[in-house]
Amino acid sequence: MEKKKFLYEGKAKKIYDTDDVNLCIIEYKNSLTAFNALKKDSIEGKGELNNLISSSLFELLSEKGIPTHFVKRVDNIHQIVKKVSIVPIEVVVRNITTGSLCKRLGVEEGKVLPRPLVELYLKDDALGDPLITEDHALLFGWSTEEQLLKIKEIALKVNSVLSEYFTGLRIILVDFKLEFGVDAEGRLLLADEVSPDTCRFWDRDTKNRLDKDRFRKDLGDVLGAYQEIWRRISSSNEDGAR
Ligand code: TMP
Ligand code: ASP
Repeated sequence: MEKKKFLYEGKAKKIYDTDDVNLCIIEYKNSLTAFNALKKDSIEGKGELNNLISSSLFELLSEKGIPTHFVKRVDNIHQIVKKVSIVPIEVVVRNITTGSLCKRLGVEEGKVLPRPLVELYLKDDALGDPLITEDHALLFGWSTEEQLLKIKEIALKVNSVLSEYFTGLRIILVDFKLEFGVDAEGRLLLADEVSPDTCRFWDRDTKNRLDKDRFRKDLGDVLGAYQEIWRRISSSNEDGAR
């Protein structure tokens, strides 16, 4: 399957049409951005690692019964996905307090939450992706009530599947962001990517940051952290751990 018409370019990916009206090709870019693209860089090999990591995690999530847009990885930087119309809401699930949660509410960093916290953000770069409530989403038509219920249910299931999986890799899944889309048949699917760009991963033993916080906070060796995540995922794939 080949790339046809260019459709859209985001901060970390490009999307193309294919011969099949229901499928798209995603190309993973090396660019890295933070703080709504105020900080930018490009790291050779980052796109490939995110493609490998996200493909593997979407396969795991599909095996666990989560409906996703993922069809298959084509090569190092491309994957085929079902064409969806993206719900303009970014869903963040948090297990441990950090990041914008601590900044916004002044709560202590590094606390394990009694249960996962689900937050909704409006996907709007011009507004800086503001935190919204369910009522905002419903009253302004950004999602339906049925979609919101499913989104929360899937987000929590993704959290339990991935938390258990990463525990086996000696990694703590601190928090992550998901996006959802609706396909041609009206089905709600998990979309976008699940990678060190969109998750916070802490090494269980050293608490080393193995994700994009290395770039956000200038901690150094961003690529090494992404490689370490892929090293642990690929060795668990070889062990047949999943
Ligand atoms: P936050 O603490 O900055 O709100 O981030 C929460 C999680 O969401 C974290 O795992 C990083 C991820 N995230 C994205 O994937 N994209 C974004 O634009 C932001 C702000 C966060
Ligand atoms: N993805 C967002 C940006 O570019 C923010 C982030 O992940 O921190 O700018």
